Amino acid sequence: MLRTRDDLGMRPGATSMTVANTRRLHMITWGCQMNVYDSGRMADVLAPLGYVPTATPDDADMVILNTCHIRDRAAEKVFSELGRLRVMKQAREAQGHRMILAVAGCVAQAEGAEIVARAPYVDIVLGPQTYHRLPEMVARAARAGGTVIETDFPAEQKFDFLPEASAPRGVSAFLTVQEGCDKFCSFCVVPYTRGAEASRPEAAVLAEARRLVAQGTREITLLGQNVNAWHGEGTKGKPSNLGHLIRELAEIPGILRIRYTTSHPRDMDDDLIAAHAEIPALMPFLHLPVQSGSDRMLEAMNRRHTAAEYLAIIGRLRAVRPDIALSSDFIVGHPGETDADFQATLELIRAVGYAQAFSFKYSARPGTPAAGAALQVPEAVKDQRIQEIQVLLRSQTTRFNGGCVGLEIPVLFTHHGRYDGQVVGRAPWLQPVHMIGASTLIGTEIRVRIVEAHTNSLAAMQIPTPFIEERACA
Ligand code: 5AD
Ligand code: SF4
Repeated sequence: MLRTRDDLGMRPGATSMTVANTRRLHMITWGCQMNVYDSGRMADVLAPLGYVPTATPDDADMVILNTCHIRDRAAEKVFSELGRLRVMKQAREAQGHRMILAVAGCVAQAEGAEIVARAPYVDIVLGPQTYHRLPEMVARAARAGGTVIETDFPAEQKFDFLPEASAPRGVSAFLTVQEGCDKFCSFCVVPYTRGAEASRPEAAVLAEARRLVAQGTREITLLGQNVNAWHGEGTKGKPSNLGHLIRELAEIPGILRIRYTTSHPRDMDDDLIAAHAEIPALMPFLHLPVQSGSDRMLEAMNRRHTAAEYLAIIGRLRAVRPDIALSSDFIVGHPGETDADFQATLELIRAVGYAQAFSFKYSARPGTPAAGAALQVPEAVKDQRIQEIQVLLRSQTTRFNGGCVGLEIPVLFTHHGRYDGQVVGRAPWLQPVHMIGASTLIGTEIRVRIVEAHTNSLAAMQIPTPFIEERACA
């Protein structure tokens, strides 16, 4: 699980706010890219109040934990971090300073009452739909004792009330276009913590994209819990879908690459598949979670498609875009999963051949249908299955990355590497690519030769001559 400290909050432009009344904001972000995006937006909301990012919590005037509730013992991790922060808060108070402590994200949404009961020193508990109200909550927390709680799903759309981003978000940026989910998979908390599916209007998305490009962004990843369910009224008054939105985005001068995540197989419509054929900026990579290869399990999971239907979608995508690379999520040990079901998952993985994929042991989420289901799978069986699936998936990634060695491919360079003179970018199929090269390459897309494949990245060499050969990784 991704855990970032201030990685969005520490943007250079944010320091322009350090005039009068500067306050330090420290953010800890767990979970998905949407949480990373949300942390950035919370920093934007707080910037006009004088909050600037700080890398450590001990001198912070406000600390926000942006939490994830999707798997594991998420709440316990939050409580243990809160215990550590409580000590710092008390130390700052002893020096006559206030530290506002806020818990945001899906744990706040799902366990707000528990947080207040177990950690009454927390000042603000706010769910993912209420970030635009943060300044008001900060003011209330400053005035009142006790915890300010906002975990409603307000009638107004949070997107409409968030300010424009105040600082550049880098060569590659996320842009949330959709939130929430109506699919109600048996195991998943998202429909309860993020609420019903809501799409951001096309005009607002295009406006944010144009602002990003003006600030130097070259690659945009459209985000949504169910991003391909995005729909709205198009700029020309007609109903719009994600395929159409991608076409509109591709028209914006300066956008070199477009990606979207995470998708549901049920929403892979003809338009979106056609966009993969027709839009060169749409990268040949798709994260399309299937969760299981067994029809019995897919039904138990309420996925509302079969393994054959999933494979048919992959077939159609590959027919129009032969070099498309695929990624998925898998859950092992969902209640009722037999050895035969698990074997069906391994078979599906062999049939698809993934470039990368994530696999998780099923973990019961309170309040979800699967949590109360009979036939929970013993932990030891889950352990064995997760090892087996990961060996298979790792071998596919190794094979895919190994197949890239020797190819000349376009790489969009996004930032400096860890070593002097090193620049880092991404291949079309999302692998990070490291190369020795000039800083001026950052923000540009050039063809490079892949010379080495590592477990999760590729090494490249600059080439003086242009493109020679184009083929997908094996
Ligand atoms: N247990 C294990 N994995 C889960 N995921 C979602 N909920 C659970 C759960 N209760 C996984 C799914 C999803 C990904 C984001 O997290 O595979 O696609
Ligand atoms: Fe959760 Fe994704 Fe299923 Fe929605 S589609 S309930 S977000 S796993």
